[in-house]
Amino acid sequence: MSKQQRVWVSRPLFPEVLATLAQHVDLCVETKESKRTPEQLHAKLADVDGAIVGLSDRIDAAAIAGHHRLRAVANLGVGYNNLDLAALTAAGIIATNTPDVLTQTTADYAWALLLAAARRVSSAERWLRAGRWRGGMRFDDWLGVDVHGKTLGILGMGRIGQAVARRASGFDMRVIYHNRSRLPEAVERDCRATWVDKTALLQQADHLVLVLPYGAQSHHAIGAAELDMMKRTAVLVNIARGGIVDDAALAVALRDGRLAAAGLDVFEGEPAVNPALRELDNAVLSPHIASASADTRRAMAQLAADNLLAALGFGPQAGHPPSWLNPEARGRACR
Ligand code: DGY
Repeated sequence: MSKQQRVWVSRPLFPEVLATLAQHVDLCVETKESKRTPEQLHAKLADVDGAIVGLSDRIDAAAIAGHHRLRAVANLGVGYNNLDLAALTAAGIIATNTPDVLTQTTADYAWALLLAAARRVSSAERWLRAGRWRGGMRFDDWLGVDVHGKTLGILGMGRIGQAVARRASGFDMRVIYHNRSRLPEAVERDCRATWVDKTALLQQADHLVLVLPYGAQSHHAIGAAELDMMKRTAVLVNIARGGIVDDAALAVALRDGRLAAAGLDVFEGEPAVNPALRELDNAVLSPHIASASADTRRAMAQLAADNLLAALGFGPQAGHPPSWLNPEARGRACR
């Protein structure tokens, strides 16, 4: 049966989540995720009331130009640097994201990368799989750097940064952080974390995890100068966004031994990855999967669907999507 409202979903989602959407709206679901040109994206958004999009979909003024039917865009992710919030708000289009549901899983993954990079897990596995473990291994082969008992630095101390910090207790680590605004004392106590300025963070951290949002202010927050300030034995972990680190400068620092290792889940211009990084054995690389556990991806998809349905006027939260990024866009919603 044809329904009045139409929704475009930019990638395949869990069938049970699509089923909740399909109870209310006509769906057009893409069969694979892909980086679309601005023209393709503009065409996809024509004649739909809502869209579920992800990081590779750049929803800006050009993408929504002339699309007077479009009332809501639900992002699959807590980070929403792919959305031009000002343009969406100016057009009265509701924008939503998926906070909270991914906090713990993403924090787990920061630790997975930190431990894998510090203890050389990926390169050791590549070596073993290549059939090179034939005996004769030296006692001082495969030496990594310790994580336990060290100082963990965290740049960006929102929900995920705090969850990363809490896990450090189990490793007997001191935690220092830098954030634009200092956390309330009670939160600092709970995370056992101490605020320091950015220079102190870079100089004192034995290992540094990046968990800050991407924007003009955080572009290349870690470049050659910042890498130079870090300890040579340090591991850098980026689970935040590509572009926060100058990947070319990082590759040089890793190659020259000015940094022990890096664990990277995000890249400048992803899915492209700087070829110099791909060559390095001391870089653990993964394809932006920090939130990718089955439970969490399902919860993210469901939250995006709930947000969209509420934005389009369905369900108990009609008119009030649970994670509404731009309440000031009220107006075109639920006309
Ligand atoms: C997020 O939620 O921001 C993750 O990085 C997925 O894009």
